[in-house]
Amino acid sequence: MKTQIYAPTEENLEKCARLLGSGEIVAFPTETVYGLGGNALLPKSVKKIYQAKGRPSDNPLIVHIANKEQVYSLAAFIPKLAEIIIEKFMPGPITVVLPKKEIVPDIVTGGLNTVALRIPENEIARKLIEKSGCPVCAPSANTSTRPSPTTARHVFSDLDGKIAAIIDGGECKVGVESTVIGFDGEKPRLLRAGGTPIEALEREIGEIEVVKSSTVALCPGMKYKHYSPTAEVFVCEKSAIIKAYDEAVNDGKRAVIIGLEKLRSEAKERNFWSVGKSVDDYAQKLFAFLRKCDDENLDAAFCQAVDETGLGSSVMNRLEKASGGKRIG
Ligand code: TXA
Ligand code: MG
Repeated sequence: MKTQIYAPTEENLEKCARLLGSGEIVAFPTETVYGLGGNALLPKSVKKIYQAKGRPSDNPLIVHIANKEQVYSLAAFIPKLAEIIIEKFMPGPITVVLPKKEIVPDIVTGGLNTVALRIPENEIARKLIEKSGCPVCAPSANTSTRPSPTTARHVFSDLDGKIAAIIDGGECKVGVESTVIGFDGEKPRLLRAGGTPIEALEREIGEIEVVKSSTVALCPGMKYKHYSPTAEVFVCEKSAIIKAYDEAVNDGKRAVIIGLEKLRSEAKERNFWSVGKSVDDYAQKLFAFLRKCDDENLDAAFCQAVDETGLGSSVMNRLEKASGGKRIG
């Protein structure tokens, strides 16, 4: 199959919407990462997504919708606090997991009786979903275990020849996936840290229980290897990062320091990639830099640890997975 890359013109969005309607799969930009979309109500199209990604079929997909009314046609029950989240944070980088209606096929939810729903803020994504006339289930548009894609080029390098089309909407603004919130009855639980900081959510709905990755049954995606470049990734405290890098280089390794702009003066002539000034910038750049490690055939990446507040929590969560828990300092 030849994979077409389309600019996000009205005409091209209509073309891609028709592809979705007919059961093909199409990659599209969202504010978080690129998604690989298929018609959520057509099991054969959902199957194609799992195949193209090489994704285990017990790892459920997020269903993307264009407006709040669609929540009610797919969810069987909406807890009070979920309603507040839907009102205040959607569209945006957040996903709510709710009891599902029968219309949602089991293949989308990995057999769970819940469905994950998200309204992207990205207008290209919303237009595509609207034009397709169907809910669009979409995981991140990477090969399973690779870093999530934040440009059309990333998608192309993983999925060329495996999908019908990619809509090129430029770089993703947020850069990490959506925050996933589930409910135990009325009680909210954080299933995945992501593009909406938990602090912002807690200001609206009170305390949210954080589910540890050991409770895998609640968020099946958490148990899988993730975000792994071929280079070995280490999460380093600022005080230990230069020494760790120097030792690797002395051992003959090709390495990089990935960190906040402030680290530049200490990194001096070393191979240093600045993620920018803030943890938000870090989130936006992280996956692209993990991929760049492979493009440049590096052996090791020493990534600066940051405080787990705001998007810092998501950055640390992704780094922990990419590194397999290897920390220095
Ligand atoms: O930002 C995002 O969320 C991106 C863009 C494309 O929207 N999508 C994304 O999808 O990250 P994916 O498939 O890579 O991650 C979905 C996560 C997985 O960890 C999965 O286990 C969880 O959501 N999930 C999906 N449905 C669920 C359900 N019914 N119950 C619990 N967790 C669910
Ligand atoms: Mg993913």
